[in-house]
Amino acid sequence: MKKLRLGIIGTCNRGKLGDIAHNAANGVEVVACADINDMQRQSCIDRYKKEYNYDIHAYCDYREMIEKEHLDGVFVTSPDFCHEEQACFALKNKVAVYLEKPLAITIEGADKILRTAKENKTKLMVGHNMRYMDFTNKMREIIQSGAIGEVKAIWCRHFISYGGDAYFRDWHADRQNTTSLLLQKGAHDIDIIHWLADSSTVRVNGFGSLSVYGNLPRREKGREKLECLTIKDIWSKNNWPPEEQTEMYPNINNEDINMINMQLANGVQACYQQCHFTPDCSRNYTVIGTKGRLENYGDCGVGATIQLWNRRTDTFVLEGDVTYRMPDRSNDMHGGADPLIVRGFVEMLRGISTPASTPQGARMAVATGVKGAESIRNGGIPLEVPELDEDLKNYVFSI
Ligand SMILES: NC(=O)c1ccc[n+]([C@@H]2O[C@H](COP(=O)([O-])OP(=O)(O)OC[C@H]3O[C@@H](n4cnc5c(N)ncnc54)[C@H](O)[C@@H]3O)[C@@H](O)[C@H]2O)c1
Repeated sequence: MKKLRLGIIGTCNRGKLGDIAHNAANGVEVVACADINDMQRQSCIDRYKKEYNYDIHAYCDYREMIEKEHLDGVFVTSPDFCHEEQACFALKNKVAVYLEKPLAITIEGADKILRTAKENKTKLMVGHNMRYMDFTNKMREIIQSGAIGEVKAIWCRHFISYGGDAYFRDWHADRQNTTSLLLQKGAHDIDIIHWLADSSTVRVNGFGSLSVYGNLPRREKGREKLECLTIKDIWSKNNWPPEEQTEMYPNINNEDINMINMQLANGVQACYQQCHFTPDCSRNYTVIGTKGRLENYGDCGVGATIQLWNRRTDTFVLEGDVTYRMPDRSNDMHGGADPLIVRGFVEMLRGISTPASTPQGARMAVATGVKGAESIRNGGIPLEVPELDEDLKNYVFSI
């Protein structure tokens, strides 16, 4: 089997996806990494030495890494606003890309990445790891079995307890870097809504606000814009309640509540509601069909279930007519989805399998998030979501 030479751009939190792939015995080696932050670069070098007794080559400039290292693939796990430039550079140099979500922070940027992959006949996969989770796959399987009839509505509520730590203490807080947390965080759920509905949004509107974090004390201005705060530095269950937090990012202008309504091409009516300051943490989807309703209680944690109601009752019933119990994945990163999606990337490179996550899906999630944010910032007006160019719609990015 051909040895695969992989690289990482952006070595901090998500850069560790490379570590999952690195398996010299299986012929997959992460030979190089690139990061503009000296501390992160050194920490990656040290990690590979300590964990794998491996001398990884480290670069400050990702372009130098791509030009020198003859890579078969690269994990682009840098902040969202870097994705377009870095993915296009790798693709133009014929290096296959695993690109973290969101695909890009503009619709034009997203389209440019897809077009560059096609023109250079180079493989592209996007890190929509929710397509690899047990509960989303189970919901999709139930829908496809016909158990709830024809799907007519999908509603998702998203409670984020760690919003302050993960999104309002660093670059995520500033819309210049992300456009909106509808892309940064919501791209996952918009993609899952589209995937469950087997369609995508044509029209969107929304409301939202910066309700809590905008009022909190911020760190002093003038510190380096792109400083990398590692999650372990800032993530603590003691950071509660939200209104008592300090040391927030200097430029906070993204909303901490986002609510969008979506009309899908096949007539499904959907909505997504995201809040960044809840005490608890989960995603709650309900799917309503012509013969029943599905809802997940909990997602990847202990005791998570999917409930299916398919008999009429005229009062509240906590337990569905059928209960599907999900495996406990509370100790696995992202409910066990990360090892699966990384395996998907390696198998795509080897031509063994086609990823569950698609660049077209990632693009439609970005386009819906961009237009949803635009609506929120313009009084909730309904906006059309631009379609993907016809030649990209059916292009297969994994061969
Ligand atoms: N799929 C998921 O579940 C998931 C979860 C978290 C984050 N993400 C995505 O992963 C990406 C990275 O997120 P993170 O939380 O690891 O961010 P982070 O800020 O913790 O890490 C980003 C790293 O990129 C480096 N970097 C910044 N600019 C760079 C440049 N120009 N060239 C090279 N390196 C650069 C930083 O120094 C840092 O080491 C984001 O796009 C985010 O949306 C995905």
